[in-house]
Amino acid sequence: MPKINVAIVGLGFGAEFIPIYQRHPHANMYAICQRTRAKLDAIGDAFGVEKRCTDYGELLKDPNVHVVHINTPIPDHAWMSLAGLRAGKHVACTVPMATSIADCRKIVELQKKTGRKYMMMETVAYAREFLYIKELCETGVLGKIQFLQASHQQDMDGWPNYWPGLPPMWYATHCVGPVCALTNAVAEYVSCFGSGTIRKELVAKYGSPFAVETTHIKFKDSDLSARIYRSLFDVARQYRESFDVYGSKASIEWPLIEHQPLVMHRAKLPEPKIPKLVKAPDHAKRLPKSIQRFTTKGVYDLAKKTHLSFTQGAGHGGSHPHLVHEFVSAIVERREPFPNARQAANWTCVGLCAHQSALKGGAIVKLPDFTV
Ligand SMILES: NC(=O)c1ccc[n+]([C@@H]2O[C@H](COP(=O)([O-])OP(=O)(O)OC[C@H]3O[C@@H](n4cnc5c(N)ncnc54)[C@H](O)[C@@H]3O)[C@@H](O)[C@H]2O)c1
Repeated sequence: MPKINVAIVGLGFGAEFIPIYQRHPHANMYAICQRTRAKLDAIGDAFGVEKRCTDYGELLKDPNVHVVHINTPIPDHAWMSLAGLRAGKHVACTVPMATSIADCRKIVELQKKTGRKYMMMETVAYAREFLYIKELCETGVLGKIQFLQASHQQDMDGWPNYWPGLPPMWYATHCVGPVCALTNAVAEYVSCFGSGTIRKELVAKYGSPFAVETTHIKFKDSDLSARIYRSLFDVARQYRESFDVYGSKASIEWPLIEHQPLVMHRAKLPEPKIPKLVKAPDHAKRLPKSIQRFTTKGVYDLAKKTHLSFTQGAGHGGSHPHLVHEFVSAIVERREPFPNARQAANWTCVGLCAHQSALKGGAIVKLPDFTV
């Protein structure tokens, strides 16, 4: 089978994916692209990638590039995805898909028109904890699912210039992804409350004053709803992504502190026996042997190899090789990846609609038709 030529664009977080594509049986790690020549060459030399570009437009002109995997700053995701599709490339893009509903619509429409694949690389939807909970759900261990909630809290002081003051819900896919993906649900409408106030100088850029945004999501054709919450500034909290699922037979909650075990609550046991600590197993067996080890290896190995400093990505629950495998397999098997363009737009627009709702004091906002 011919191999797919992959180009990675943006080499902060993006560099983590180089060694995975290099070992995927159906991929050829063909090119890398980022603005600064020195870092481009340092990474190209460390991994032996010959084709290097500092200009995205030039990269797209190369007919040997079949796929672009975009890991650039948030404001670049939409225009780069559109340019990639327009140039006839398959596109994988880190989260979020875009920061406006109009751009999400353009990507969904262009993907449909070109027939190229688009996948949003949402890490939580492939994290070992999520894969474990999905397995428990599908094998009936949790019973009937009754409620879902997810959070993502992070202190973004000191991060690059597009972060300060970003409305928390504009980067909500780490919460929205798992609550939708568990039952393949589609978000239909949302209501969001803002809470607290961030520093004045942070409010200026995006006009968003809220320290925390809390959203209720109603799913289409389902009796389920979910609650998600996010904070980015002026809230004291260790980094935490979480996903809790409440079922009739068992419920499962992520730990309050990173790297501790999950808690499973079992119904109809004597009170002290209800909770049990459980560890999510590794789902490496779902992957080609050659990339299984990347479920436990992450940014630290990369830093050692390149002698560059990386601030991002401690492996994100072992999700990176699963994301690569899903994207490459979708192309090879000529099927839709998960999440595809419409699903990515639904997840991203939950956050965008939620922020609109928060600005209107919690009014219900419907997801746009092209996402449902
Ligand atoms: N869990 C996750 O899903 C996760 C984790 C980390 C980062 N991210 C996302 O990845 C993206 C990058 O984050 P980061 O921390 O690596 O950022 P970063 O600032 O460290 O790196 C950005 C990279 O993009 C390159 N770049 C910027 N503009 C470019 C252009 N016009 N052409 C070519 N290259 C360009 C830069 O040279 C750099 O290599 C962000 O959107 C972030 O949200 C997602």
